[in-house]
Amino acid sequence: MIISGNSYKKRQIGVGVIGSGRIGTHRAKLAALHSAVKYLVVSDIDETFAEKLAKSTNANGFTTDNYEVINDPNVDVVIVSTPEDEHRESVEAAINAGKSVLVEKPLALTIEDGDRLSKLAEEKGVDLRIGYSQRFLQKYFVAHDEISRGKLGPILGGMTRVYNTRTNMLEILKRCPEATPILDIITYNVDYIGWCLGPDVSPIEVQAMGHGTIFRDQGYDVDDISLTMVKYSTGAVFSFDICYALPGGFPTTGQSVRLEIMGRDGVILIDDDHRDQILYSEHGYSNAYAEDQKLKLAFLGSRSSGEWADGIMFGRIADETKEWLDAQSTGSKCHLTTAKEARQTLAVTLAMAEASETGQPVPLANI
Ligand SMILES: NC(=O)c1ccc[n+]([C@@H]2O[C@H](COP(=O)([O-])OP(=O)(O)OC[C@H]3O[C@@H](n4cnc5c(N)ncnc54)[C@H](O)[C@@H]3O)[C@@H](O)[C@H]2O)c1
Repeated sequence: MIISGNSYKKRQIGVGVIGSGRIGTHRAKLAALHSAVKYLVVSDIDETFAEKLAKSTNANGFTTDNYEVINDPNVDVVIVSTPEDEHRESVEAAINAGKSVLVEKPLALTIEDGDRLSKLAEEKGVDLRIGYSQRFLQKYFVAHDEISRGKLGPILGGMTRVYNTRTNMLEILKRCPEATPILDIITYNVDYIGWCLGPDVSPIEVQAMGHGTIFRDQGYDVDDISLTMVKYSTGAVFSFDICYALPGGFPTTGQSVRLEIMGRDGVILIDDDHRDQILYSEHGYSNAYAEDQKLKLAFLGSRSSGEWADGIMFGRIADETKEWLDAQSTGSKCHLTTAKEARQTLAVTLAMAEASETGQPVPLANI
């Protein structure tokens, strides 16, 4: 007997992907495999990248003109996967065209740009989401669910730290010199803790210290290690530490993370260092960020974005992209970071950078 109809509308959608690099390639391949996607076009300032991606996804077209993709009448939703300092123009154009947007993190690199994009999306009633993919790793998503059901009681605070190699950080700085470890990486953890604390809790003060010689020797004014702390409006205190300067031969090819949250009634400890899965091979394991690097000893599964294996993608970008496309097609619940949340996270990371530079606490009363 039928009890109730399936309430999801399941419309077919057209997807435009701006930026055909590492992450744009994952997103476009996942879109091409999604059953609701009937049309796919991609762009890149480098035509060879766009063409290669269009061919590998059997897309309907490729171009070097982002506006051609954004304003294509067959495109309903837009994914912006350009480098951090190239998000604004495409996001703005897609919002003005009234199309839902998924943009890579961070939303922007200045609070002015973050404000401008989040306000524009609100004014135009456009759903703007930011790809803070860490939320979509099973261990973090399930921990968030337990926290939101009150299993820890009121949150007291905790710690999170991220390690990666200098090889990977130098690739990120090459892509965008303003994408510092704080603005580009700790941002994931600030987003996650903010999500766990909930919409009624706000950050009120930031402190930080840093030190560095390795990246400065390479011409980038960036600390090798940053230790930061945030106090929230409930009194909860968290530390967010990062060192993306581990030697190049260290066996991770992505983020090695620890995250611990203490509450009055419970505690969550997440070990995301990837030491539970080791590969040793005389033939080497390629680093997703530096393809020329072959590690003989590697933490298998440490590629932050996820892994393709025999045509299937596993990991955070896969689950995040699928949920976003599902939501666009069916109207189902979407857990991706909202523009308001991303704007708050940006304000915290900018304050961390300022506190580290000045050595003074930075209040966040009016964000
Ligand atoms: N969620 C995650 O796990 C994750 C992981 C890595 C990177 N990222 C984010 O993804 C974004 C892109 O990173 P990436 O590693 O794919 O970089 P990438 O350099 O591999 O790719 C960026 C692509 O954009 C192209 N491009 C540059 N400017 C453009 C423009 N104005 N218009 C169109 N194309 C342009 C470049 O030619 C390049 O092909 C960044 O915001 C980064 O922070 C997210």
